[in-house]
Amino acid sequence: MTTSPGVFVAFEGGDGAGKSTQVRLLGDALSAQGLEVVRTREPGGTPAAEAMRHVVLTPEFAGLDPRAEALLYAASRAEHVARLVQPALDRGAVVITDRYIDSSIAYQGVGRGLGPDVVGEINLWATRSLLPDLTVLLDVDAGQGLARLDSSPDRLEAEPEEFHATVRSAFLSLAQGDPSRYLVLSASGEREDIAAQVLDRVQSLLVVGGGA
Ligand code: TYD
Repeated sequence: MTTSPGVFVAFEGGDGAGKSTQVRLLGDALSAQGLEVVRTREPGGTPAAEAMRHVVLTPEFAGLDPRAEALLYAASRAEHVARLVQPALDRGAVVITDRYIDSSIAYQGVGRGLGPDVVGEINLWATRSLLPDLTVLLDVDAGQGLARLDSSPDRLEAEPEEFHATVRSAFLSLAQGDPSRYLVLSASGEREDIAAQVLDRVQSLLVVGGGA
């Protein structure tokens, strides 16, 4: 949870879950209310973090060592939080990120078999323990999600369906472990219905926190 005046919302889920659309719809709805909204994504969000995104996602480095992969995601997250996310929260903004720590726990910790605990610890260190006020998990069947991708697959998307099914289970167990901090929605619902449910939940956070 943030101790700053802003509100921090993360979207998580498998590839092809429609996260970027929902980030945009939520951002538009909150901006229309006159709130300062910062929309961002991981890996990325600052020039250095975008450069790390390239290294970690390019199919050129197909055999990248899993520990190097986990550290690159954590390094880009450290930069993202320090330069963009935390300053925006300190100003009282609503920050909406497309992916955050749970992606590392699910993809590197569980999918790559590095261990969810150690990957979680590295990332808490990297972010000075900044956790979202709310994580929206868009749950998608691995096969359906991969079928929905509209560009050529990056290094992670190119993993077999079995890998993505493992990642999906990991996201669901993270949500089950801390239900008050998660909103789990099926990604196969109508996008307007999903957006309405997300907005409803975020509004309740704004009221409680008096945020943004
Ligand atoms: P994303 O930006 O969501 O994909 P897209 O380019 O389709 O918008 O994420 C890129 C990939 O990186 C995705 O397959 C998930 C993976 N990823 C991790 O493995 N660990 C992480 O910590 C993050 C943030 C992403």
